[in-house]
Parts: sequence; C-alpha cells; structure tokens
Amino acid sequence: MEKTIREEQQGTALELRGKDGNKRKLYIESYGCQMNFSDSEIVASILGQEGFNTTQEMEEADLILVNTCSIREKAELTVRKRLEKFNAVKRDNPNLKVGVLGCMAERLKSQLLEEEQIVDMVVGPDAYKDLPNLVREVDEGQQAVNVILSKEETYGDVAPVRLNSNGVTAFVSITRGCDNMCTFCVVPFTRGRERSRDPQSILQEVGQLWEKGFKEVTLLGQNVDSYLWYGGGLKKDFEKASAIQQATAVNFANLLDQVATAYPKMRIRFSTSNPQDMTVDVIESMARHRNICNYIHLPVQSGSDRVLKAMNRLHTREEYMALIDTIRNLIPDCGISQDMIAGFPTETEEDHQQTLSLMEYVKYDFGFMFAYSERPGTLAARKLEDDIPEPVKKRRLREIIELQQQHSRLRNEQHLGKVEEVLIEGTSKKSDAQWMGRNTQNTVVVFPKEQYKVGDFVMVEIQDCTSATLIGKAVGYSQNM
Ligand code: SAH
Ligand code: F3S
Repeated sequence: MEKTIREEQQGTALELRGKDGNKRKLYIESYGCQMNFSDSEIVASILGQEGFNTTQEMEEADLILVNTCSIREKAELTVRKRLEKFNAVKRDNPNLKVGVLGCMAERLKSQLLEEEQIVDMVVGPDAYKDLPNLVREVDEGQQAVNVILSKEETYGDVAPVRLNSNGVTAFVSITRGCDNMCTFCVVPFTRGRERSRDPQSILQEVGQLWEKGFKEVTLLGQNVDSYLWYGGGLKKDFEKASAIQQATAVNFANLLDQVATAYPKMRIRFSTSNPQDMTVDVIESMARHRNICNYIHLPVQSGSDRVLKAMNRLHTREEYMALIDTIRNLIPDCGISQDMIAGFPTETEEDHQQTLSLMEYVKYDFGFMFAYSERPGTLAARKLEDDIPEPVKKRRLREIIELQQQHSRLRNEQHLGKVEEVLIEGTSKKSDAQWMGRNTQNTVVVFPKEQYKVGDFVMVEIQDCTSATLIGKAVGYSQNM
C-alpha cells in the first residue's frame, strides 16, 4: 500500500561544494526537521570559510558531522547506529574527526563524549559560529564542547551554502527556538527561547535566492505564526519594548505581505503553524497574495480537549475546528495537513475516538503521525506516567494512519479533471521519463517530461491519483508566474 504519511526526512549526505583552494573535506549528514537541514547549510557555509569543502564520500572526509534530532527516542537510536558506522570508517582513517551537532548535542552535552567514544566534538544548535575554534581545539587533540543556547543567535548574517539543492526550492529560517512548552516536546530544551530574525535579512536572503533562479522558498520556524520583530527579536522581551517599537513591530502576517510583495513571482510556503498562534490576518495575507501557496501544516496532536490540555496545547477542539472553518471560508481550496500523537499518557479509548472524529471533520490532505515517545526532561516525562501499553499505542496509531490514508485518497480524487499549476522540482523517483513537482496545496504531481524543464511553472491536467500522488499531463506553461 502506498504511504500517505510523508516519511520523515532520512539522513542525507551533502554534495561537494565549497571554495577553490579549500583542502579539507567535510562530510555532513542531517536528521529530523527541515530546520536541521537548513542549519547544515549554515554549518557548511561557516566551515567553507575555514578551508573545508563538503564531500558525499565519508571515506575521504577529514571531518564527519552529524546534525541530530531528539524529538523521539527512535531518532536518537538512528544516530547512535550511524556513529557505529563512522567508528568503522575511523579505524581506517585515524585522523578523522567526528562531531555531533543539533538537538542530541544540546540534550546530552558532554555526556555524549563519555557514551560515544568516537565523538570528538559536541556542538549545540546556537553554537555553530564557534565551529572554527572548536575544530582547532579538536585538531590539537582535545575534545571540544559548546552547547550554550543563545537569546540572539539567528544566523541572519550567514549566507547558507545551498547543499543538495535542486536549484528551485529553498528553506529560509525566520525564527529559532520555541516558547510554547507543549508537555511532550523536547524542542524548547534543545533549541532555546523563541527569537525572530530581522525582516531585512530575510528579504535579502529571499532576494539572493531569486537572483540565483530559485522559484520557491519555505519560511521556517518551530512556530512561524509567532514571528515578531520589534527592533529586537526575543519574543519574551516584547513586553519590555518601547511603545513605538511595539506599534511598529512586524508580525508574521506583515512578514508574509512584505516577502510576497517584494518577490511577486516567488512561490512562498511556511512551516510550522501552531493553531494557538495562527491569526486571521495570516490567513487573509495568504488569500491576498497568489504567490503564497494555499497550504497550511497545522499540527493538532489530539482531538480530545482533555488530552490537549494535558499536552499544554492552548486551544480547544472547538477552537481548532473554528480555525479550520475560517481557513476554508477565506481559502476554499486550501491544503491542510496534521501531526498527531497516539497514546499520550492517560489517553482513553474515548479520547482516541475524539481524534478520529476530528480527522473526519477536517479530512486532512495528509499527515505525520507518531506513537508517543517519552522524552527525558519534558514536563510529561516528569509529571505523567507513560501508561499506554505499546500494543495499544501501535493499534491507535494504525487506526489514525488508515483513516488518514482514506482521507488523502479522497482529497486527491477531488483534483481529478482539474488543471493545476505545478512547479517542476526534478525527475520523478519512479520514472526517468516523468517530472515531479507540487501544486499549491503541496501535493506531489507527476507527469511526462516533454519539452518542460526543472524550475518551470506548468499547467497540468490531473488524470489519475494514488493516495499520495497526483498523475497528469502538462497542457502548457503557467501564465501567472
Ligand atoms: N513546531 C514544531 C513541532 C516540532 S515536533 C515544528 O516545526 O514542526 C514535530 C512533531 O513531532 C510534533 O508536531 C509532534 O506531532 C511530534 N512529536 C513531538 N514530540 C513528540 C513525542 N515526544 N512523541 C511523539 N511525537 C512527538
Ligand atoms: Fe514543540 Fe509545541 Fe514548540 S510541539 S516545537 S513545544 S509548539
């Protein structure tokens, strides 16, 4: 059966990039969220200034970096397995150094050096500008650790090296950290306080991408709707800002307006929205600009008010449904996707049924669905027993996935017979003769290549579908973009 759950991004090695004259080779692998993949481009840029070019062959590397994820236990276990592999490479190349970046680095700190003998360097997500110094320490035979979380660092002044790029779509970080404290989530501990990046530097980065021929940007943050720039970007200090600063602050809806107006032919997406922070003016801004895609990733985690409360999600089921109604009123064809957690502590069968009935109400286009995984240090881990037996979690998860699969098929069938604008990203995974791209709702569309090229906006007539993919035929270039 075809998967409707978009698979979590797997570890991906990055291609060869860098400056002429750089002698050392960096192999970097990334796991987890889009922010990690985006951060790895910042890391490659910083080390590019320090004499490193990236390579896709770990055997020829002088330095291996692994950018890690802590969101679920499984993500950490995957990284531990990779470290074993790097250890084998190190046996043939004793000069090889290995560093752990990202959320596992932040969560485990120097404990990682003890637990994993192979690791020379541990660097948290706000400390990448210190990498040149840390690499020097490691070169001198020491172990190096920097896991200091920052209240300012947004890497706004680092031009990312676009790695593994299709030359068409790119990520642009707009906020870092999260202040929401959902009780299951490790992110506030590993990524620190929420801070927004200066809109000028965001506009500049989008402009540079446009000049290089990119056609779509995804504005990234743990919680983009809470974007706020008032001359400073630290969310928790907004209250302390002056009256003028507060009155002239740029919120997420304003930022969307600015980017969409400045680059009217650039497609714009964003991720991720937390329902409690999404405002009507964001939806209105989306509706106003045709270059902002009609797609919202709107994780809800559970359909039960009781569980939402225990998760510290600050909205009710009713409020979420009202938000869905508002979206559908203002943007009738908006694609909507979810994240769900099955088997949160204390979840009853009745709570689970509430999740399924909420899904029936929304009929999401697709989703990312997980069994609850207790994360050390989170409020849920400290206060609640992980009391749902594994087989029950698995069964509930399976029911959620199966329902999503039905809904994805239903949503995809609604596209049949329509002619939709698709941005070509590359060759289809299944056939060299077909292009793969996405429509505005973020659904994958495949169609015969004919005379079209990567980066073209093409009108595609949708003729067939699976639960995951739309299948069609191009009928001409888009007149709009
Ligand atoms: N706002 C973030 C959410 C990060 S985590 C973002 O930008 O995507 C992504 C998803 O992982 C969450 O929405 C949640 O569904 C899931 N998740 C987070 N912590 C989890 C845990 N402890 N167990 C299972 N799933 C979890
Ligand atoms: Fe995690 Fe909730 Fe923030 S899921 S990233 S604490 S919005």
